[in-house]
Amino acid sequence: MKQTPTFITSFKQFRDAAYAFRLPRIIFSALEINLFTKMEDRDWTIPKLAKHLGASQRGLAILCRNLASAGLLVKSQSGYHLTPFSKRYLQESSPDFRGDYLGLMQRQWSEWSHLTEVIRVGQPRDSKEPETTEYRRSFSWAMHHRSLQPAKEVAQQISLKAARSLLDLGGGPGTYALAFLALNPILHATVMDRPAALDVARMLAEQSSLGTRLTYQAGDFLTARIAGTYDVVWYSNVLHIYSPAENLKIFKKIKRILNPGGRLLIQDTFLQDPKELQPPEANLFAVSMLLYTERGNTYSVRDVREWLQRAGLIRSRVLHLKEGTGDWEGQLIEGRLPRTG
Ligand SMILES: C[S@@+](CC[C@H](N)C(=O)[O-])C[C@H]1O[C@@H](n2cnc3c(N)ncnc32)[C@H](O)[C@@H]1O
Repeated sequence: MKQTPTFITSFKQFRDAAYAFRLPRIIFSALEINLFTKMEDRDWTIPKLAKHLGASQRGLAILCRNLASAGLLVKSQSGYHLTPFSKRYLQESSPDFRGDYLGLMQRQWSEWSHLTEVIRVGQPRDSKEPETTEYRRSFSWAMHHRSLQPAKEVAQQISLKAARSLLDLGGGPGTYALAFLALNPILHATVMDRPAALDVARMLAEQSSLGTRLTYQAGDFLTARIAGTYDVVWYSNVLHIYSPAENLKIFKKIKRILNPGGRLLIQDTFLQDPKELQPPEANLFAVSMLLYTERGNTYSVRDVREWLQRAGLIRSRVLHLKEGTGDWEGQLIEGRLPRTG
């Protein structure tokens, strides 16, 4: 995803940046009243829709007008109906409904409202509370909904022809592992994650014939032994959860489980410019890490390549995906083990 950086030099730009919360807030309110699902495939007048949703006519008229101007509803002669996009992704009955990911976004709104407090303390508000199974499962479903499309796009652009074994480390629902298996018939994959995440991975794999080439390893990869050896380790959206020292420790562990010539492929949002200010997403995502993790952050390409070097994955390079594909800005970092020695 490419973003235009916000660089504020006038009060108008400042005002626009500060008020950018309005459309997201409108979208979350529409989701909270279950508007997209409840509209089904019909065209609604405002009075009928207000009755159907138990909301005020005045509120709905203004809400729908804004949703239509943002392209999420169509304004007709008599009222409003869903667009092809909102029908496909925002309506519960659609097979492409992204419900768990939408739920995660909604919960983030409330957490982001506590940002000042978290900046003062430097730690997430619930850092002392142990993670529940329910949270991990629902987060894993959200990750699946988030990565369904990018996983297919990424798998198409990474050649794993020579690889027999892949470890999806912190693979959560295994969406990426399944996407790699789909395109590489001789590949076997293992997802390592916490037990509740693997419950979701198992459910998804059972619905697919690819599941016979997928195995699971439950455990904390920071503290437990990682079993097996692999031609490829896929480390996607995990780097940002940990500190530089923890990532270095993980890279060293990965080095020990890679076969000669093996590859570590890292997907994340990376800071790319010398001042480490761009792209905007890499900075904004660091705020999520501040809110949700104890030591997480986002990192520069330069830092990650240095950790790879220090871990002994000496042949590192940046891989570029086609514009608009993949999870972030289209950069992956690869560290490779020499074939011999
Ligand atoms: C943000 S999700 C990314 C999921 C998937 N790799 C993707 O790109 O969509 C991070 C995953 O890493 C897992 N994880 C983080 N630290 C872990 C650890 N120490 N041991 C096992 N799993 C871990 C989490 O449980 C979660 O499923």
